[in-house]
Amino acid sequence: MQGELIPVFPGDNNLKNYEEARANFNWEDVEKEFSWYRTGKVNIAYEAVDRNVLEKGLGDKVALYYSDPARNEAVTYRQMMERSNQFANVLKKYGINKGERVFIFMPRSPELYASFLGIIKTGCIAGPLFEAFMEVAVRDRLGDAEAVAIITTPALRNRIPKDQLPHLKHIFMVGVPEEGLGEGEIDWHAEMEQASTEFDIEWVDREDPMLLLYTSGSTGKPKGVLHVHNGMIQHYQTGKWILDLKEDDIYWCTADPGWVTGISYGVWAPYLNGVSSVVRGGRFKPADWYKTLEENKVTVWYSAPTAFRMLMAAGDDLVKEHDISSVRHVLSVGEPLNPEVVRWGMKVFDRRIHDNWWMTETGGQIISNYPCMPVKPGSMGKPFPGIEAAIIDDKGNVLPPLQMGNLAVRKGWPSMMRKIWKNEAKYNEYFKIEGWYVSGDSAYMDEEGYFWFQGRIDDVINTSGERVGPFEVESKLVEHPAVGEAGVIGKPDPVRGEIIKAFISLREGYTWSEELQAEIVDFVKKGLAAHAAPREIEVRDKLPKTRSGKIMRRVLKAWELGLPTGDLSTMED
Ligand code: WTA
Repeated sequence: MQGELIPVFPGDNNLKNYEEARANFNWEDVEKEFSWYRTGKVNIAYEAVDRNVLEKGLGDKVALYYSDPARNEAVTYRQMMERSNQFANVLKKYGINKGERVFIFMPRSPELYASFLGIIKTGCIAGPLFEAFMEVAVRDRLGDAEAVAIITTPALRNRIPKDQLPHLKHIFMVGVPEEGLGEGEIDWHAEMEQASTEFDIEWVDREDPMLLLYTSGSTGKPKGVLHVHNGMIQHYQTGKWILDLKEDDIYWCTADPGWVTGISYGVWAPYLNGVSSVVRGGRFKPADWYKTLEENKVTVWYSAPTAFRMLMAAGDDLVKEHDISSVRHVLSVGEPLNPEVVRWGMKVFDRRIHDNWWMTETGGQIISNYPCMPVKPGSMGKPFPGIEAAIIDDKGNVLPPLQMGNLAVRKGWPSMMRKIWKNEAKYNEYFKIEGWYVSGDSAYMDEEGYFWFQGRIDDVINTSGERVGPFEVESKLVEHPAVGEAGVIGKPDPVRGEIIKAFISLREGYTWSEELQAEIVDFVKKGLAAHAAPREIEVRDKLPKTRSGKIMRRVLKAWELGLPTGDLSTMED
């Protein structure tokens, strides 16, 4: 597989020579391209939106092309500046100030983006949530962050348990519910209408927090990864060299803003580079996606392996019904990109799909395939110039090529997370090896410096590109009266990468049936989130546990895959 190589396509790429850039790169040269380098005044929202209007003459350029089955709308950079100013004024009016946490819990829409940018302009910390989250997931995140406000829609309001969230004072409602507004609920549109389109931006320190994103680990509740304004340096430069964004590009990032990709590369990278960005709402449908590429004349397209695999499964004929010749550059992130998918991309689009690797915690892209570099299908590519990534052993020794080990990044890249919210111990776990961030992924580097993903070291499940912590699912499962114990693993799946499989034991008095299975699945769906519900449940009399009572997920996985179970010395009788 390693021998396979797709050569560079002819074209005028922003990054001309990878090795040369690596040798000469300096983050300070990038900093000089921002206004704050001259003025000393920093706010990422200013650099991404207002500056395009006030300093670069891009006020009438479309920032956002939004579409879903019911709506089609274009928002210019000037409109985006004014609407985010309006929302910033609304927040101020309600006494919400710098450093406070304001969450967003709604489907993609132009209102979402104006709200998000407004939050950042006030110096508040934005906490975007997936609309798929159910009550417990919402409560855990808002509660941990002590959020003071949330922006949501009438359809989702019942999933916000106000009585359990003492810090939550204001609920901005985009759309008025039929029953009218409840206590603490505020009409988003009415407030916006009255608010001034001018706002005195809150100038912050580069190191001031900006974004709180909850993500799953293998133990405990989801943790709040905190990012700061300084990340913009990396979002801008990776947008230029990895996304290869140029002035006239129409760029489409398919990720939801509840996920880090939908923020770093759905908002910051395109806006900092002053391009027009496409957002498609609604559910995934292959034909709609091709239509989005065609109608918007998308030139740069950033998506995920699961989506590409689903498009692949929808058949090549569907592609032929659409003119997608505008697409110049295609990228993928979130899970391993199968070589087969890369080959399919060559066949049907005549384009290389450029895989890249990064995490919620890294805030921005770390390893990538660049347009100016041959692609090896199955490889994530090479570290970004100015960032050092390596394969290290558990003591921190850098391993030679072809040896598998911990994928690690030299501490200190611009968009690195700065904290785990209220959990210093968890944060420090990532940096246990002096000088390095240890990702939790295993990989190796080949002799030409390309990195190859091997797997997760912990039990985190990656289903359709979404990180699901087995612990959260197990905790929910055992809340069901029929479930005694639960162990959850990721089971390999050709389309979703992994699916969630649960092993459970039943409590006395319950017998297994299809109805009970459906009921348990539904229980997790309603309690946690649809994507966190197990697609398979297997009942066992007893689950493998350590003497201290921890479910041994690696044994469950070995059972599932028919592999040897390994060392069982810590297992109870
Ligand atoms: C996995 C996504 C293989 C990996 C931006 C990582 C990948 C986790 C790739 C982070 C890739 C991401 N190849 N695996 N190109 N990109 N991953 O935080 O296990 O949702 O640690 O951020 O996804 O997921 P997260």
